[in-house]
Amino acid sequence: MDYQYEEIAAAAKQLKEKLAGLEDKRSILRAPELGSLYAQIKNLPAEIRASFGQEVNKLKNELEELVRESTQPKIELPLIDVTAPFDVNVPTDKKPQLLPAENSSRHPLMVERDKIIEIFARMGLTAVESRQIDDDYHMFTALNFPEGHPARDDYDTFTTEEGLFAPAHTSTMQNRVLKKYKSNLEKDKAIAVIIPDRVFRNEDLDARHEHTFYQVEGVYVDKGIHAGHLVATIRAWLSSYYEKEMKIKTQPYYFPFTEPSFEFAASCPFCEQKGCNVCSYSGWIELGGCGMIHPHVLREAGIDSSKYTGFAWGFGIERLVMLKYNIEDIRHFESANLKFLRQFS
Ligand code: DAH
Repeated sequence: MDYQYEEIAAAAKQLKEKLAGLEDKRSILRAPELGSLYAQIKNLPAEIRASFGQEVNKLKNELEELVRESTQPKIELPLIDVTAPFDVNVPTDKKPQLLPAENSSRHPLMVERDKIIEIFARMGLTAVESRQIDDDYHMFTALNFPEGHPARDDYDTFTTEEGLFAPAHTSTMQNRVLKKYKSNLEKDKAIAVIIPDRVFRNEDLDARHEHTFYQVEGVYVDKGIHAGHLVATIRAWLSSYYEKEMKIKTQPYYFPFTEPSFEFAASCPFCEQKGCNVCSYSGWIELGGCGMIHPHVLREAGIDSSKYTGFAWGFGIERLVMLKYNIEDIRHFESANLKFLRQFS
């Protein structure tokens, strides 16, 4: 460490040499050389008093650090190769058997996610990534959940000690994509985006609930957009994804960021609405939430809500895939169970 005051630099050198020969390392902090530097401070001219004092403190901190280092038992740990696929300290015969690379395959969720992205790309919607950690503003405030709003409690969010969130829905990206693409509107082009990404919830786990899953969010804004466009867009997408004409149904619901808000159900792709155990004999399967984007959400992103309207939706991707392949338990996806995964390779 460098010291600008010669006297302090000299004392630092002396004290460090002294420290090397001391048995009781802590006693260096009571050394008269340090004490006399402190004693001088009050007699110094005002203009240098503060900086001299700070430098004496710096020396004391440096000595404390050296004492700490020298009194800590030295443990020689082997270096860790953080890029290794397993702990390098594990003896060779205990290392996991890796699969030959040619046996690998893509995870079914990623394959299905790409199919969804492709369908929307053909419909003119661009895919944008979300993130794995987000803030209160994007999780709630920008989505018209004011502070203290009871609807915040509907989301079982994981939070960090600093108050950040593992996003509990892909709607956290709405404000960002609205801002990013709002210049489209000035060019008479729509904002047409999907966000297919991971979300996290502090859920009680069962066959239909996972702590980590994927959603596909959609955001569409332009002049004259109404709920008919919402229904038609989702129906066209689902029919393409399930490769059959789907009937769809909306029923009123509540989300702070849409008005009106709907829950969205599609005709059961298994029984053609005759009733089966997948749809609990109702003929309908709930797929997610959607609605017309609340004017507050548009305004928060700087979009004139008297001129433009839009719709948004958020559907669970696992749910869609489970329906497509008749998968009975959502927990298979994150399980890394090869028996499950190999069925799709
Ligand atoms: N974010 C909601 C959830 O995970 C789902 C949702 C509802 C997304 C309505 C939307 C929407 O974009 O308009 O519970």
